[in-house]
Amino acid sequence: MGSKNIDWTTLGFSYIKTDLRYVSHWREGAWDAGTLTEDNQVHISEGSTALHYGQQCFEGLKAYRCQDGSINLFRPDQNAARMQRSCDRLLMPHMPTEQFIDACVQVVRANEDFIPPYGSGGSLYLRPYLIGVGDNIGVRSAPEFLFSVFCIPVGAYFKGGLTPTNFVVSGYDRAAPNGTGAAKVGGNYAASLLPGYEAKQQNFGDCIYLDPETHTKIEEVGAANFFAIDRAGRFVTPKSPSILASITKYSLLHIAEHRLGMAVEEGDVYIDRLDEYSEAGACGTAAVITPIGGIQYNDTLHVFHSETEVGPVTRRLYDELCGIQYGDLEAPEGWIV
Ligand code: COI
Repeated sequence: MGSKNIDWTTLGFSYIKTDLRYVSHWREGAWDAGTLTEDNQVHISEGSTALHYGQQCFEGLKAYRCQDGSINLFRPDQNAARMQRSCDRLLMPHMPTEQFIDACVQVVRANEDFIPPYGSGGSLYLRPYLIGVGDNIGVRSAPEFLFSVFCIPVGAYFKGGLTPTNFVVSGYDRAAPNGTGAAKVGGNYAASLLPGYEAKQQNFGDCIYLDPETHTKIEEVGAANFFAIDRAGRFVTPKSPSILASITKYSLLHIAEHRLGMAVEEGDVYIDRLDEYSEAGACGTAAVITPIGGIQYNDTLHVFHSETEVGPVTRRLYDELCGIQYGDLEAPEGWIV
């Protein structure tokens, strides 16, 4: 137990077993009080809907060690709300916001030794998930549910962190029109495994998904959202019913508009009009902000600001976001627990 052997400077995004995780069960219409356990194995019925019919959803959020030693949890209420929307889509019971946040706080406190030190660039990634369990075989909602939160110390998601990465436009779709793209459910990520593998085989960080209806507009970057800075200096990010509403993306929209004085727009980013943008990036809890060096579409690599240097606006957004998360800058009301 404990974090004695972790080298905080070389952390990537990999599983590390931490001391304690939170588990609560939903039986006969209610969640129990939940407990912390050392057991990192899940024991469920072989008939669980999560195993056969993908009835499950998850979240990702982070805790940050601040300079004064305190710990910041970033916008957990937003993750609770998004998980409730995912549950609605997959006919699962809500985990109430209060219990969700309390579970996250308990897990952070119980694994405090695993929070990377201030200045290391790392953070404690929390992975809440909610799955359909219990004896069942028919295609229907599960008789019981399990909610759990575990945590892992992490560094950069894409190799190199805040250095530009190239991405390739995929011929696959990650979600269908009117499908489950807006819900944080495993099926969307299962659909992304092969396209992501193929992109990495070609030395790209991951792939870009176009809108599944017309295949003309950018929707997502692997498991992250997309943003760009247009030549008029506006922060632009796609709006679509099939993308996953990233809490980082909505935080950046707020930061760009209210702290950096930029015009912002949720709108269309056409793949054949990339010349309109001077910078682009991927954003998400895991990815934070990953600058996009270039996008390969058909046989052409379109380079934005540079394949090696971070653009100036991307840098300001990153500094502002991380400053808030690590407690160096004042946060908008309600963002930090
Ligand atoms: C996140 O950014 O938290 C994600 O869920 C992305 C991924 C690692 C699945």
